Amino acid sequence: MRESGPILTVSAASCRFDVSAPALSRLLTREPCRILRAVETVSFTVERGTTFSIVGESGCGKSTLARMVVGLQRPTEGALHFSDITRIDGTIGPPRVQMIFQDPYASLNPRWRVGDIIAEPIRELKLRQDEAAIMQRVGDLLEIVGLSRTDASRYPHAFSGGQRQRISIARALATEADFLVCDEPTSALDVSVQAQILNLMVKLQKEFGLTYLFISHNLSVVRHMSDQLAIMYLGRFVETGPADEVFGNPRHPYTRLLLETIPDVEKPNRARRPMSGEVPSPIAPPPGCAFHPRCAMAADICRVERPPLRIVAAGALACHFG
Ligand SMILES: Nc1ncnc2c1ncn2[C@@H]1O[C@H](COP(=O)(O)OP(=O)(O)OP(=O)(O)O)[C@@H](O)[C@H]1O
Ligand code: SF4
Ligand SMILES: [Mg+2]
Repeated sequence: MRESGPILTVSAASCRFDVSAPALSRLLTREPCRILRAVETVSFTVERGTTFSIVGESGCGKSTLARMVVGLQRPTEGALHFSDITRIDGTIGPPRVQMIFQDPYASLNPRWRVGDIIAEPIRELKLRQDEAAIMQRVGDLLEIVGLSRTDASRYPHAFSGGQRQRISIARALATEADFLVCDEPTSALDVSVQAQILNLMVKLQKEFGLTYLFISHNLSVVRHMSDQLAIMYLGRFVETGPADEVFGNPRHPYTRLLLETIPDVEKPNRARRPMSGEVPSPIAPPPGCAFHPRCAMAADICRVERPPLRIVAAGALACHFG
């Protein structure tokens, strides 16, 4: 049984939505079908026990990709494959995949006590034999995520945003998940609380050998926890590679633009360029390189020919130059 190697392989996965007007009104107005390309031929692998982060601006297709990985959205083309793993208890099978959402307020049922929220998947999956063992496990999970056992009897509204995200993580761990898809898990939180949750996630990864697919619109959030990084623009990966390399030697003009917008604590007075230009519509992406209307380096070829994603050093790059 393979212990190293990819836990997830995504092969040329695309997701397109038909956002056309109703057929009758199209007939009257002679409007053509409108296809929104949310994710376009994306390929990557995620190694077990590592963090693969995807970063890009709003609307670039991050959540759609996350939903495909957890099976909430079918790819229109391409395939996603999870490899069987051997668990600590010796059982072999596909990894258990769970999603952690951005909004810890909306993702917890306000009418349920926290103990019941965390116990539900344990009961559902029959992971413990009796009620005493279930409640013991709930208490252990609350402590693992930095809450107290007595919090089981409280309702979600009694907790802060950061604490609620800890409850969401405890619920994901309750399923004995191996692979967590984290869609902007800290974006709704204050900066100081964000750091606490990220530290907790790093600690849990080491402790339980978890694999993360981590999604953010903010490069600084993923800086310290990513092994591999993919920069996404209008549904496509434009730069990928080991995180140190992408941060240390960003090759794509869009990656550089994203990096320039990050505040630098060591050089607080460094001139920062604001993010310039609007993200074009994924229904009618610009021809050639989709980034060309915003790119300071754009040349004639960029306006007509789309640069393929090609292997560069330990990663890949989609740019005619660099
Ligand atoms: N079910 C759907 N039907 C039609 N269009 C959709 C659907 N889901 C997503 N889209 C569109 O697909 C594109 C990508 O959306 P997605 O939510 O994946 O982006 P995102 O990168 O997660 O953005 P954000 O950072 O704002 O969460 C957007 O233009 C969105 O409007
Ligand atoms: S291909 Fe051209 S427009 Fe696109 S990122 Fe590279 S230089 Fe800029
Ligand atoms: Mg999203």
